[in-house]
Amino acid sequence: MTQKFAHESFTVMNELVLPNDTNTLNNLMGGRLLHWMDIAAAISAQKHCNRIVVTASVDNVSFKHPVKLGDVISIEAKVTRAFNTSVEVRLVVWAQNIPSGTKIRSNEAFYTFVAIDQNGRTITVPQLVPETDDEKKLYNEALQRRELRLILAGKLKPKDAKELQQLFKEVVKD
Ligand SMILES: CC(C)(COP(=O)(O)OP(=O)(O)OC[C@H]1O[C@@H](n2cnc3c(N)ncnc32)[C@H](O)[C@@H]1OP(=O)(O)O)[C@@H](O)C(=O)NCCC(=O)NCCS
Repeated sequence: MTQKFAHESFTVMNELVLPNDTNTLNNLMGGRLLHWMDIAAAISAQKHCNRIVVTASVDNVSFKHPVKLGDVISIEAKVTRAFNTSVEVRLVVWAQNIPSGTKIRSNEAFYTFVAIDQNGRTITVPQLVPETDDEKKLYNEALQRRELRLILAGKLKPKDAKELQQLFKEVVKD
């Protein structure tokens, strides 16, 4: 089983918000941002897997601040954990206004990708080795997020979600 470090998948993608990316209020359209995030996350997942990947799911994304025409968007993506044929990628989005010198963290999200071969069959991916405290925290919590998204997708029965059950037991105890 091959292994890769988390930092090997790190990707930064920059985009300038142009008129065709905005609504009539000159704010970046949410769908355009999700599209850019999908590309940055896919690049990160492909760096880890060394394979073509497809988007399996996108966790809830909230838009905290409007991003304005002319802002520079920076999307940071890194794989948090590899499972069997899938990987979870964490995204952090920054919006920078260069003339005013402001930079805000505008969004965060988790995307899941599945590696496939030339015939579209799913294939095993290298395991991920977290190194920093932040990477280890994201790695450990990834099991709970995975169970939750598989329950929501109808692919896992709540009674089989061991990590979530453990989490709720701990919450009830506290
Ligand atoms: C994603 C896809 C390959 C999964 O295929 P599948 O036959 O359902 O495969 P399985 O149920 O065997 O699951 C394969 C992996 O996908 C993961 N997966 C499936 N559905 C998922 C979901 N909704 N969220 C997160 N992971 C999911 C499984 O957990 C499994 O991962 P693992 O091997 O690491 O445990 C298939 O559904 C597909 O090709 N979807 C279209 C992808 C696409 O076109 N994306 C762009 C959309 S616009």
